[in-house]
Amino acid sequence: MVHESSHPLVKHKLTILRDKETKPKKFRELIREISILLAYEATQDLDLEPIQVETPLAVTQGAMLKEPIGLVPVLRAGLGMVEGVWEMMPGSEVWHIGLFRDERTLKPVEYYNKLPISPTVQVCIVLDPMLATGGSASATIDILKRWGAKRIKFMGIIAAPEGVRTLQETHPDVDIYLAVIDEKLNNVGYIMPGLGDAGDRQFGTG
Ligand code: PRP
Ligand code: URA
Repeated sequence: MVHESSHPLVKHKLTILRDKETKPKKFRELIREISILLAYEATQDLDLEPIQVETPLAVTQGAMLKEPIGLVPVLRAGLGMVEGVWEMMPGSEVWHIGLFRDERTLKPVEYYNKLPISPTVQVCIVLDPMLATGGSASATIDILKRWGAKRIKFMGIIAAPEGVRTLQETHPDVDIYLAVIDEKLNNVGYIMPGLGDAGDRQFGTG
């Protein structure tokens, strides 16, 4: 399943995010805010358990998340997506995976992995703002599945149709939540019109 957000706030913030004049501080704020809005959409089907709660006036029936979830930011650019989502679900665990794209081959190269020995949660959400060729997302999900993760979702901000296709072909069981699907990849693997390099724009490099 591919879900492309139709929320007006997402569209508004995405427009400022794309703007080449948007500086790293504002860029990070927007990544954080858009991630919270997307998390609202990506977590609609999380399991709840009934629980009683005592208000100052009465005892009533409530519900709480059945289990913590795992947030998997893909370094570097995925880092900016964690904080806001984590605030919404402070019981989450955060597992970092580091991949970069080889500029020549566009293939992902793994350089960091901080997963616990075995999965401790049922649902993980991979966080990476850019789904370009789909190589990095697909490789991250390969790692998570080899490790034993059962239910995986992918949350990104901008995708190219090529990346969406690759991810659907390699991992058809993974639901994909995006702010927008753009037109295409250019001849050096950047999303068009996109926003440029999400890592560089967050961290002021490049
Ligand atoms: C970017 C982005 C994704 C990847 C997407 O990371 O954050 O991880 O490219 O491209 P793909 O779909 O073609 O694999 P990058 O490799 O630039 O590393 P960075 O986040 O450290 O800048
Ligand atoms: N990574 C980015 O940061 N931007 C793109 O357009 C493609 C990959």
